[in-house]
Amino acid sequence: MPIVIEKLSKKYNNGRVNALAEISTVIPEGTFGLLGENGAGKSSLLRILATISTLDKGKVTYDSYDIVNDTGMIRNMIGYLPQKFDFFEKLTVYEMLEYIALLKGIKNYKDEIMSLIEDFNLKEKENVKISKLSGGMKQRVAIAQALLGNPKYVILDEPTVGLDPTERLRFRNVLNKRKQNSNLIISTHIISDVAMMCENVGIMKAGKIIFCDSVENLLKKVENKVFIETVSNNSVIDEKKYNKIISILRKPEGLEIRYIAEEGENSVMPTLEDAYFYMINLNEG
Ligand SMILES: Nc1ncnc2c1ncn2[C@@H]1O[C@H](COP(=O)(O)OP(=O)(O)O)[C@@H](O)[C@H]1O
Ligand SMILES: [Mg+2]
Repeated sequence: MPIVIEKLSKKYNNGRVNALAEISTVIPEGTFGLLGENGAGKSSLLRILATISTLDKGKVTYDSYDIVNDTGMIRNMIGYLPQKFDFFEKLTVYEMLEYIALLKGIKNYKDEIMSLIEDFNLKEKENVKISKLSGGMKQRVAIAQALLGNPKYVILDEPTVGLDPTERLRFRNVLNKRKQNSNLIISTHIISDVAMMCENVGIMKAGKIIFCDSVENLLKKVENKVFIETVSNNSVIDEKKYNKIISILRKPEGLEIRYIAEEGENSVMPTLEDAYFYMINLNEG
């Protein structure tokens, strides 16, 4: 079932920081990517969805469950990876996962822990203390604990931080394997993460949701609006000529300027990066 968010507000420091400003949106079933720059409010939103932090005003419902009145019910349906986590450094990988399984009240957890250890390529580290692991390995254990018990909603705050490209691909494969039973909500500032694993996408900026729809519809926003022009390396570039410059790449034939304009001829195929850039700039100010 979708998660329905109505006029959700959250402030910090006695109201001086407006982290979430009356957000109303629906997070559909399936895989959802939450994009936004640092400080946009992604973690604040996910902490509330994960029932770790309380809301100031507004309403959040999972199915018929209300996040304020049915916190316990909702907690039982959730697996959560916080952006910052302090690990039980003295426990081994297996012991840490066992601890979480016990906390979650999972029975007969042994096989599931072993399959997660296998999936995340941690077999050789099973009996190694967390303190001895690299950042990427710790991150994999942290993701694994969020998936324990096959929760209906898996909420991962910046799960791919610290993972190298191969680990990110493995992470995607593990999630794909498990997503039949789960709804995934992932925050990231890496746009290719969303391209790689999400059907739907939300974009946050300064405490607001400025876009929430399918990845396909996000791409439609920049259809026929992305252009490329190549100029010689030593020419002076008139920046006024281009509405919004997305990127400038040095190529053998010269500088390739990729830009957005509302109209023009010979537009190129837009990428998700283009569409994200367009939405963020459209809502400037
Ligand atoms: N515990 C906190 N106390 C005070 N301010 C906070 C706290 N957590 C986040 N903020 C502020 O709230 C805003 C949103 O932060 P956050 O939700 O962490 O955004 P994101 O995850 O998108 O980077 C930022 O201005 C941040 O500095
Ligand atoms: Mg964050």
